[in-house]
Amino acid sequence: MRPVEDIDELHAALASWRRAGDTIALVPTMGNLHAGHLALVRRARALASRTVVSIFVNPMQFVEGEDFDRYPRTPEADQRMLAEAGVDAAFMPSAAQMYPNGYADTTRVHVPGLESIYCGAFRPGHFTGVATVVVKLFNLVRPDFAIFGDKDFQQLMLVRRMAADLRFPIEIIGVPTVRDADGLALSSRNNYLSAEERGRAPRLYEILSGLAAKLEAGSTDYAALQAEAMSGLSAAGFVPQYVAICRHADLQPPRSADRELVILAAAWLGNSRLIDHIEVRAG
Ligand code: PAF
Repeated sequence: MRPVEDIDELHAALASWRRAGDTIALVPTMGNLHAGHLALVRRARALASRTVVSIFVNPMQFVEGEDFDRYPRTPEADQRMLAEAGVDAAFMPSAAQMYPNGYADTTRVHVPGLESIYCGAFRPGHFTGVATVVVKLFNLVRPDFAIFGDKDFQQLMLVRRMAADLRFPIEIIGVPTVRDADGLALSSRNNYLSAEERGRAPRLYEILSGLAAKLEAGSTDYAALQAEAMSGLSAAGFVPQYVAICRHADLQPPRSADRELVILAAAWLGNSRLIDHIEVRAG
């Protein structure tokens, strides 16, 4: 596995692989890798003959006052994990390489609608930062496949939409969320939880699972179900931002005849903002 910090070096490696007839999968990450990322790498390796993992804590997707400075950065451990996982290159660019003119006034990518709902409403500008950096990575690597976790379900939908709108010839692959044994979705931000908060954190998934069971049983009073889940989260010590029952296809509010749904939620627990989702086939 070669760590690559320089764009010319990246392009040289990609060119030699392409000449050899290789296909390329890209796994974009912000590092601090865990078993969830390794699931993305396994999928990438199953799809393509070469796997590139990017590690870049993207300043543009952090809203003013968020955790950009304290976001966990563990480059040595990340490189060891990627080498063991059989990755071909870890692309670890600097902010200057990704944003040659700075990011305050840079060209940016908007995905109207999807970027301003749910998490986007609470983190204004976040998804513009995500879409912009993902487009840059797509342009730099030009992969055949790009692999994203479905944990951030709204992000995956937004990337799919952006890639389709801009006609990127890249297959966007979503990989199911990896959870700890108690149900908590793996996330680098779980590092911020105290031991006591970590004990309570699985309540988020339990409460969403309870809501999913009611939808599967045929309940369609979405507003009441969302309000009940919000109260349950508050009672469990979370500060919930939203619980939303949405249509799976476009994340819009469902009509009672809609069957393919997804529940999205975000809630603070101490200093950690947790997100989760459950896909549901309504009864
Ligand atoms: O999901 C993430 O880790 C980031 O949002 C991504 C896709 C790597 C873009 O910075």
